[in-house]
Amino acid sequence: MDRNNLTRRQFIAAASAGSLAAVGSRTIPAYGNITNRASKLAILGGEPVRKNKSWPRWPYWDEKVVDSIVKTTKSRIWCRIQSKSGTVPTFEKQFAELMGTKFCVATGSGTQALHTCVEALGIGPGDEVITSPYTDPGTIASILAARALPVLADLDRESYQLDPDDVERRVTENTKAIMPVHMMGQPCHMDAICKIAKKHNLKVIEDAAQAHLSEYQGKKLGTIGDLGCFSFQSSKTIACGEGGGIIGNDEALMDKCYTVHNHGTSRRGRTEVAGPKYRMNEFEAAVLLGQLPGAAERFARRNANAAYLTSRLKDVPGIRPQKLYEGTASGSYYLYATSYLKEHFNDVERSTFLKALRAEGVSLSPYIAQGLHREPWIEHILSQPVYQKMFSKRRLERYRRESACPNCDQVCQEMAMIWASGPLLGTKEDMDDVADAIVKVYENKDKLSSI
Ligand SMILES: Cc1ncc(COP(=O)(O)O)c(C=O)c1O
Repeated sequence: MDRNNLTRRQFIAAASAGSLAAVGSRTIPAYGNITNRASKLAILGGEPVRKNKSWPRWPYWDEKVVDSIVKTTKSRIWCRIQSKSGTVPTFEKQFAELMGTKFCVATGSGTQALHTCVEALGIGPGDEVITSPYTDPGTIASILAARALPVLADLDRESYQLDPDDVERRVTENTKAIMPVHMMGQPCHMDAICKIAKKHNLKVIEDAAQAHLSEYQGKKLGTIGDLGCFSFQSSKTIACGEGGGIIGNDEALMDKCYTVHNHGTSRRGRTEVAGPKYRMNEFEAAVLLGQLPGAAERFARRNANAAYLTSRLKDVPGIRPQKLYEGTASGSYYLYATSYLKEHFNDVERSTFLKALRAEGVSLSPYIAQGLHREPWIEHILSQPVYQKMFSKRRLERYRRESACPNCDQVCQEMAMIWASGPLLGTKEDMDDVADAIVKVYENKDKLSSI
């Protein structure tokens, strides 16, 4: 099998099956056979696995992006309401097409997109929304902005996604929606989550802020629930600095999202409901329009590299790549995530492992330090008269009592991930550097305690 003759789809399938081991310019060492690279650790004075090499940088830009901004500047159309054919409406059309949905409403951020959905679905004071503690604060900010109660359910320790069983345990008579967060850009267990939503008559707002173009059971993430939200903040795999988008197929609901995000003013020009002003501006959409043409190709490259990296890491003791649910066809690979299981590294702390790895020229990071269930906002809202009026004392006491999410705590402690938007656009040799450095540190685990 020659990698150069493979279609992208075949490459991803082959890499997932681990059958690329003998493909390409050099034979890839199976784990345990890394020979010359497994010499002295760089942190102890040995040769680093990777030196004088850079990673593809992110955010991405090219001349198309620059031309698009210049064109917008010169057009003097800088705000979406100035023209129906400006960059924002054009981006909305193109993004909806790319995602396979009928409609898109662009916003100023992912948080704004999520909050718009919460309001458009009529969720507000006294209501509860179940979501993840392992996410960006923007997820819960969207619920708090509507003065509803974010209820945090625990994670599946191996996928870093919401545990559907814990979600169901946390449904109360006030629950109106579930907000699954597709962490790292890979899918939640949407099958189970949608079943729970159907059983309890709940809405599903997908937080796909990290999950552009990812597919689960033949559907793009963001198209499975009632509404799907994206972020285009700088680090994301489609990026314009700050930006967001909502997608959906229900025309009336998407029209409501437009109205809410446009300070309550509808496309018909009447101010009809309460709403903030969350419009995306024309410069943000100009960047996005310049960036969309290569997005699918970059997505495929990240998937191929992620599958290859997983095929190299899956048998390394103590390094467990993110678990993917059945039906996962692809992920955005905003992050390439693994768990570091220190019991396989002579109980050496993660920080020491990461330090040794960094000296080899490969950087992995811990990501979110602690889950949102451990942040002070919970005590803050419990002390607020507005929350004390909306919810019974009994409910708020139970809320505090049940705030623990032990699996999330474990995930925070074990996480070792790569910011992947740029790096996963690298070459197969770049991926080999990552895997070889990890294997080298593993093979030298007996020396780590001296660092
Ligand atoms: C999972 C998740 N949800 C929500 C957000 C909020 O998006 P934004 O930063 O565009 O407001 C982010 C952004 O980092 C995110 O990663």
